[in-house]
Amino acid sequence: MKETEKYVLPSLKAAQIRTREKATIEHSLFSIPAQARHLGAGRKFYLRTYGCQANERDSETIAGILFALGFEQTNYEEEADLILLNTCAVRKNAEDKVLGELGLLKKLRQSNPDLLFGICGCMAQEEEIVRTILKKYPHVDLIFGTHNLHRLPVLLFQAMVAKEKTVEVYSKEGEVIENLPVHRFGKHKAWVNIMYGCDKFCTYCIVPYTRGKERSRLPEDILSEVLQLKQQGFREVTLLGQNVNAYGKDLDQNYGLPELLAAVAQTGIDRIRFTTSHPWDFTDNLVEVIARYPNIMPFIHLPVQSGNNEILKIMGRRYTVEQYKHVYDLIRAQLPNCAFSTDIIVGFPNETEEQFQDTLDLVDYCQFDNVYSFIYSPREGTPAARMEDNVPQAIKEERLQRLMKKTNAYSLLNNQKYLGKIVRVLVDGPSKKNEQVFSGYTEENKLVNFTGENVHPGDIVTVEITQCKSWTLDGKMVKEA
Ligand code: SAH
Ligand code: SF4
Ligand code: F3S
Repeated sequence: MKETEKYVLPSLKAAQIRTREKATIEHSLFSIPAQARHLGAGRKFYLRTYGCQANERDSETIAGILFALGFEQTNYEEEADLILLNTCAVRKNAEDKVLGELGLLKKLRQSNPDLLFGICGCMAQEEEIVRTILKKYPHVDLIFGTHNLHRLPVLLFQAMVAKEKTVEVYSKEGEVIENLPVHRFGKHKAWVNIMYGCDKFCTYCIVPYTRGKERSRLPEDILSEVLQLKQQGFREVTLLGQNVNAYGKDLDQNYGLPELLAAVAQTGIDRIRFTTSHPWDFTDNLVEVIARYPNIMPFIHLPVQSGNNEILKIMGRRYTVEQYKHVYDLIRAQLPNCAFSTDIIVGFPNETEEQFQDTLDLVDYCQFDNVYSFIYSPREGTPAARMEDNVPQAIKEERLQRLMKKTNAYSLLNNQKYLGKIVRVLVDGPSKKNEQVFSGYTEENKLVNFTGENVHPGDIVTVEITQCKSWTLDGKMVKEA
């Protein structure tokens, strides 16, 4: 048998398929086989995470499994017996970073011949990338994807004990598995998945291929996780999904994000956030719920991608600029203090100067607090990657600069409104730059550095803002009014 025949390799074509079949929800599927139980004894893992919050949360599961196998964690690659890179495929530069890192890490094998290299996450779901890794990075021993985290004990056993190169990537999403271990990296803020996958298939985006179809968790499973987090002293949860507004659609229970958010709010946990919202199904109902509960934070990330209707159409975003503005106005009217952030792609294939101008105009209309802007990056297997593109890279870069100049100015302008204001800050800890200064986030998700006494991570404190910069606010703690 040829080496590659032993592997379960990803197929982009298979990953594209969507069926009406419902995902099964499993409450006891995960288990650790007896032979793998002490696999990590005396060994250390190093885990690095790239990409979005979904990956962060997956890394917490991976760490949970590794701890359950007896591993210890290290923050130093040189100390590790297992190096795992949990990767992102959303843009080419994200991939290049990982491939560069893989090359650099290779030399560590010289001092530790038993060192095991693993790749997981969204890049592992890409057919072409896995082929490249197998060919050019033979020191990678283990590759698994986003759909089979629960197989990690078995796969590790195969790679570590049987010393076989192990590649297992499912192209079809599997069950929603509820009993996976988790090791939370934060003590006061937690990620809570509410759904997996994405069915939107925006024409530029790889995520529907790497994350499978939309699958919602049951409301009761989400609520019991939130309640448990609250009991453990967590003060903030962020509900996660690629498109949280589609939550519940696959469950057919007439229970969507508005109902879920209300129920999570009623648990009494201090702060609730959610991401990412797709403008397409952002309903009036949802805005009302956010307005009704003070523990749902007034901060909305609402990716627009472009301010031009033709581009939006070719992107497959399913809304017009007018519809986006309508949602935006609705939120503004009901939540006057709400902060907004968005994502914008510049240089989509054949984007004209006029079309780009429309994006600048939309930024003027919405005056976002924060904009994550990206140059379009063709992703193999997506429809947009097959489009011809007449926009030179230099023009794309120049547009990005112009866009950022504008968006940065609005970030500063929005922050300046906070001068002299009193805000509530959830404390993360001492600031990175100065041990005497603490940092944390306001309800609107503004990063604040402040001075104060007797401050502890996880406290929610009252701070007066004394200085406003583009990305941070400075302040001093004041007594509660
Ligand atoms: N589910 C979220 C976004 C996930 S990807 C949503 O729909 O908003 C995060 C962001 O990366 C996207 O909003 C988009 O702005 C950007 N992005 C995705 N694919 C990209 C590509 N091929 N090139 C450049 N940016 C991309
Ligand atoms: Fe990608 Fe669009 Fe899905 Fe967001 S909604 S993950 S941009 S396909
Ligand atoms: Fe990247 Fe995968 Fe998230 S491609 S943005 S890590 S879903």
